[in-house]
Amino acid sequence: MYGNAYIDPDKAPNSLVADEDPVKLAEFEARIAAGEKIEPQDWMPKEYRKQLIRMIEQHAHSEIIGALPEGTWITRAPGFRRKLALMAKVQDEVGHAQLLYSAAETLGKSREQMINDLITGKSKYSNIFNYPAETWADSAVIAWLVDAGAIINQTTNARGSYGPYVRALERICYEESFHLKYGHDNVVHLATGTKKQREMVQAALHRWWPPLMHFFGPADKISVHSEVLMKWKVKMASNDEMRQQFLDMYVPKIWDLELTLPDPELRKDEETGRWIYTEPDWEEFKRVINGDGPCNAERLAVRRMAEEKGRWVRRAILGEKAKYVKPFA
Ligand code: 3HC
Repeated sequence: MYGNAYIDPDKAPNSLVADEDPVKLAEFEARIAAGEKIEPQDWMPKEYRKQLIRMIEQHAHSEIIGALPEGTWITRAPGFRRKLALMAKVQDEVGHAQLLYSAAETLGKSREQMINDLITGKSKYSNIFNYPAETWADSAVIAWLVDAGAIINQTTNARGSYGPYVRALERICYEESFHLKYGHDNVVHLATGTKKQREMVQAALHRWWPPLMHFFGPADKISVHSEVLMKWKVKMASNDEMRQQFLDMYVPKIWDLELTLPDPELRKDEETGRWIYTEPDWEEFKRVINGDGPCNAERLAVRRMAEEKGRWVRRAILGEKAKYVKPFA
């Protein structure tokens, strides 16, 4: 779990490359440097495959778990139009998960095993979905700002090196842009509505801001995987670079609505163009991504129930193959 990956910044491993055939590795890295796409049947370092499975699987889990906090508001949406739009968004997120599970399967890990690893807590999903969506305004803030963060991450990584992943990301980004518009329209409606509506969206914003600051991953100085992921163009920007882009794009928009954010230090250094903010609480982040967040148990219980109740469908379609498959060697 994160505990294994989280190491003292001074002891970060320098040589991140596994024991590979140096000639093949050099050819692979020349292809990456030339901006070529790596396809499933191509030679790739074991570490490249392992990192891609970890990251794409985690992304897929995040999509399907991410549908849960918003999904709880479909039956309570304030009107038919909002209900329709939210239903469409939640359906999209589940579809994104299927696209990403398919991309991860091209690397040799089966969907059954990925779902098993999610349900048993072995695999991670985004920290942000382990918090409760307490009011309708929470679902609006998620649709606007979590999807905004996802779009920054996904449009950046869509320029990466692994063919099946970047093609899935391109498709996902088209649909995310609708989610962003829906979420922004929702937040603006509440922020310019009645006093009660404005107070509701302001409270939601304060609840979701700390997990949003965790969303792009730990600070670069303590990020364990960034070096090798960026070396092989799986990750096309660092965690802090994506966080800065998010702040630059969305803090002004939030302030334009005369809403406040729960960080007295938050300001832009006009000289450097960088945003200054209070260091996120990485201890909270570690706790949440290791299963100890407000909603982790509830989220996995829902997934476990869905798998159990849906097993007969898989058995009917896949027959014997529906059983648990041995992990990819
Ligand atoms: N939530 C949970 N775990 C996280 C995390 C987060 N936000 N950020 C980092 N971690 C974990 C990593 O998995 C790693 O743990 P591990 O070694 O046990 O796997 C550890 O923290 C160290 O962090 P690193 O910075 O070294 O990890 P990465 O290099 O993988 O960077 C990332 C993290 C930027 C999230 C990267 O994995 C990534 O870009 N992933 C693909 C995009 C993705 O997964 N997005 C999730 C949201 S999807 C979404 O919002 C859908 C929307 O439509 C609603």
